[in-house]
Amino acid sequence: MTAAINLFYVSISGNTRSFVGKLEAEAKKQNALDAVAPLLHAVEYDEQCDVSIMDQPYFVMVPTYLDGGDGINNGYKEVLTLDFRDELDDGNHDNLLGVIGSGNRNFNAQFGLTAKHYARRFNSPLIGLYELRGNAEEAAKIYSTMRKYAADFAKRGVKRALVH
Ligand SMILES: Cc1cc2nc3c(=O)[nH]c(=O)nc-3n(C[C@H](O)[C@H](O)[C@H](O)COP(=O)(O)O)c2cc1C
Repeated sequence: MTAAINLFYVSISGNTRSFVGKLEAEAKKQNALDAVAPLLHAVEYDEQCDVSIMDQPYFVMVPTYLDGGDGINNGYKEVLTLDFRDELDDGNHDNLLGVIGSGNRNFNAQFGLTAKHYARRFNSPLIGLYELRGNAEEAAKIYSTMRKYAADFAKRGVKRALVH
């Protein structure tokens, strides 16, 4: 039995939570086909959540909430996800195997920008981006990428860094 894949995420309006459900379903489907395929252990951030998930290898999933400016040339002001970011700042970044992001493509170049910032901030690869609640196809792709990075970490004992 392979260790479950740990996922730490935040969801303000429920879209990320919904996509986590799709990831869980994909993990269960793969695990039923082959017991070596890891299940998902997801923890949603809130003030009372168990942050010990960051003591094991884990992935982070974050939506984008920016206020004012264009986020790129004139100011990047992250709102609503700052408490989660503070919690991540205190976590063990050697265990942070990858960042997955989301947003709304109506924001054009700002789409999924917070995940890109976190990837740089914590020197972890950006392993996936999806829009709003995502779909089963995106969940399958992201699950398979997480699985690859988790297996790589299990073999080498060292995480991959952000590759620009
Ligand atoms: C005030 C506000 C600002 C947002 N800013 C961005 C943004 O800069 N880039 C982006 O891709 N999406 C942006 N979004 C869209 C959210 O990231 C998107 O709806 C996401 O799915 C929300 O995830 P959640 O429901 O899990 O909180 C914004 C949404 C709101 C309400």
